[in-house]
Amino acid sequence: MHIDYQETSKDLLTRIEIHEEYGSANIDVWTTDLLDPQPGMKILDVGCGAGKLSFLFDDYTKGGANIIGGDFSEELLEKARARNKERGSQVEFQFLDFNQPFNFADNAFDLCTSAFAIYYARNLNFTFGEAHRVLKPGGRLFVSGPLPENKQMFYDIIEEAANAAIPPMPGSSRFKGDIFGTIDSIFARTELRTFENHLTFPEVEPFIEYVRASLNEDRKLWTSMFDNRDEYEALIVKITDAARRRFERDGKLVMTKVVGGILATK
Ligand SMILES: C[S@@+](CC[C@H](N)C(=O)[O-])C[C@H]1O[C@@H](n2cnc3c(N)ncnc32)[C@H](O)[C@@H]1O
Repeated sequence: MHIDYQETSKDLLTRIEIHEEYGSANIDVWTTDLLDPQPGMKILDVGCGAGKLSFLFDDYTKGGANIIGGDFSEELLEKARARNKERGSQVEFQFLDFNQPFNFADNAFDLCTSAFAIYYARNLNFTFGEAHRVLKPGGRLFVSGPLPENKQMFYDIIEEAANAAIPPMPGSSRFKGDIFGTIDSIFARTELRTFENHLTFPEVEPFIEYVRASLNEDRKLWTSMFDNRDEYEALIVKITDAARRRFERDGKLVMTKVVGGILATK
């Protein structure tokens, strides 16, 4: 059944805004402290979406790095290009499907990054093999994604509301195991870093906004819980009730994002 959801780019940008407004820590600072990208570097950002990470690196290097953002969503690429124009920056945004060979020469990049994206790859060996191929010797790969303990409160509330088990999330369930293992088998050196961000919601509504933006974005993962627009809306009502009960009990809603960063060197 076709479900007429809101646009993906809107959901992604909503979640980014909520992280910024209610979070205790800044993932951008964590990322740039860890990677310290330098002017003159060639950087490829895979699954760049609306360009969040690409623009972060561009700001950090004061426009001095050569940055390419690749994504398979033309809608998000258009958003990124529009923002690029607005900012007057020179980031290049182009189509890239990380399940296909990357359209770049061997040994081309100093840094290849992917924030909350590449873990959806169909064949991890293939995709991370491509990332390795396009990196220069000594070049670094950085992949961030949710760890299994991520957003526990979010999943607890949905579980309580739906009275059903949460379906497995490919991002978090694969991150430490399969994804770390695959990267470690291909790259010379691999390490796992973690980042924690406590999102404190002073009322229920912004939390529900976050829930909607998450369920919409990953809707294919949630098909065991709803099948059409009416069932989806009914679930949101139950989630709102469960969130209200928790809010009345605790006086606030705190959701902790636990993010892993895999940093590997070719
Ligand atoms: C959660 S968003 C993250 C976007 C961005 N990295 C950020 O941090 O804001 C996931 C991104 O992965 C992209 N994506 C999913 N599958 C892809 C594929 N096969 N090839 C390229 N990009 C893909 C989506 O279009 C989306 O932009």
